[in-house]
Amino acid sequence: MIELEHVKKIYKGDSYETTALDDVSLKINDGEFVAIMGKSGSGKTTLLNIIGGMDSLTEGKIIVDGKDISRLNGYKLDIFRKDNISFVFQNYALMQQYTVYENIELPLNARNYKGKDKKKIIYDAMEKLGIKQLAEKFPKQISGGEQQRTAIARAMVS
Ligand SMILES: Nc1ncnc2c1ncn2[C@@H]1O[C@H](COP(=O)(O)OP(=O)(O)OP(=O)(O)O)[C@@H](O)[C@H]1O
Ligand SMILES: [Mg+2]
Repeated sequence: MIELEHVKKIYKGDSYETTALDDVSLKINDGEFVAIMGKSGSGKTTLLNIIGGMDSLTEGKIIVDGKDISRLNGYKLDIFRKDNISFVFQNYALMQQYTVYENIELPLNARNYKGKDKKKIIYDAMEKLGIKQLAEKFPKQISGGEQQRTAIARAMVS
């Protein structure tokens, strides 16, 4: 479960102060699919970055699976992200020097998966997304849609 309580985010610079999130409270249950909608500049990316542990909040609380991550520091936040968060980046962000298989393998390596278990998870994900035949190809050698599905598989396996 993800819970936000009175979250506020202010971006501060020398010459500006922008309130991107102002008193956001929200609860997302396990298994729930949620779309965040709003006009450009309304704070959607800021909200996702905060939920994903990629940015800090100014005020309020964020609790993920009962763990308060609002005040975690850099290193602890890195660990939290590694263990809990998957992102499908809009520009795919695939590693060009790695094959499709190796790209999908990355988050599993970070979580110390090994051997047959790891291979099965990767092949199951590739199967689901119809990219099994591309395992040994590099991102440059596959289509845009195939790259997108590789990025989705990479997010799915973890
Ligand atoms: N790094 C930053 N420094 C300062 N202000 C920022 C920063 N990132 C975003 N903002 C400001 O915070 C507000 C919310 O931005 P955010 O990127 O969250 O909007 P968004 O809803 O994702 O917009 P879009 O639909 O255009 O992607 C905007 O006013 C934006 O200008
Ligand atoms: Mg955005």
